Amino acid sequence: MSMLDSIRQTMRRDEVFPFMAPKVSELLDVSHGPILYLEDLNVSFDGFKAINDLNLYIDAGELRCIIGPNGAGKTTMMDIITGKTQPDSGQAWFGQTIDLLRMTEPEIATAGIGRKFQKPTVFEYHSVYENLELAMHGDKGVWHSLIAHMNGEQRALLDETLETIGLKEQAQQTAGALSHGQKQWLEIGMLLVQNPHLLLVDEPVAGMTHQEMDRTGELLTSLAGKHSVVVVEHDMDFVRSIANKVTVLHQGSVLAEGTMDEVQNNQRVIEVYLGE
Ligand SMILES: Nc1ncnc2c1ncn2[C@@H]1O[C@H](COP(=O)(O)OP(=O)(O)O)[C@@H](O)[C@H]1O
Ligand SMILES: [Mg+2]
Repeated sequence: MSMLDSIRQTMRRDEVFPFMAPKVSELLDVSHGPILYLEDLNVSFDGFKAINDLNLYIDAGELRCIIGPNGAGKTTMMDIITGKTQPDSGQAWFGQTIDLLRMTEPEIATAGIGRKFQKPTVFEYHSVYENLELAMHGDKGVWHSLIAHMNGEQRALLDETLETIGLKEQAQQTAGALSHGQKQWLEIGMLLVQNPHLLLVDEPVAGMTHQEMDRTGELLTSLAGKHSVVVVEHDMDFVRSIANKVTVLHQGSVLAEGTMDEVQNNQRVIEVYLGE
């Protein structure tokens, strides 16, 4: 019996405490289509305009790729959405009714916006399954995760997630033993068990093999529909393989938007990339 199981046996509970249950925002209103509205955003760092009158809309269920040269403002944009950076002016709305600029980082995460950073942050000494379990209980801490008893719904979500990220066979393996690609998928799974409406993913295929890239493409496209997904990525072949709609950022604004073919044939986009 694992330590986790023995702690559960002695502290058995039939239900999750109400405060531990994952909160899914009931306020989220996407009846008009978009799940994310960024309007007239501006951010300056010491007088340098990192975000410059940015307007961007993401539809509910959409998979959107964001590309753009280094320094275009991609990470800063994600920082605004997740509450890490406050803009100097402009608006950021999650659906029709949730004003992101009035919320803290944890509040935004709880409302249903999950962010995957480049560097995997899995718990290396825990199994894949335990990593998902710990993530499911969010920021309540390891101790709460150990004593909280998953209800049927949570167990089902965890099993479904294992399937989605393709790590069912590795469920009992320690996360530290996974390949680089598998760790990235596990981390996406750790976001999925929190039931996010919108997922922000920064450079998901950096350092991956071609096979892992293909698998990641399938994973991300399979999430669209149920979730809205925004992917920032440099690898153009990868973007081409998954993208419906691509937004090109440059100097803190949208330079072009459309299919991969449209943006790659856009004269202004060609000039920006040639000038790099
Ligand atoms: N905290 C910060 N302080 C000062 N300058 C910053 C800060 N964050 C980003 N920048 C600058 O803002 C610009 C946009 O950065 P970033 O959003 O990281 O671009 P990208 O992710 O598209 O490469 C860059 O010129 C960067 O140096
Ligand atoms: Mg960046």
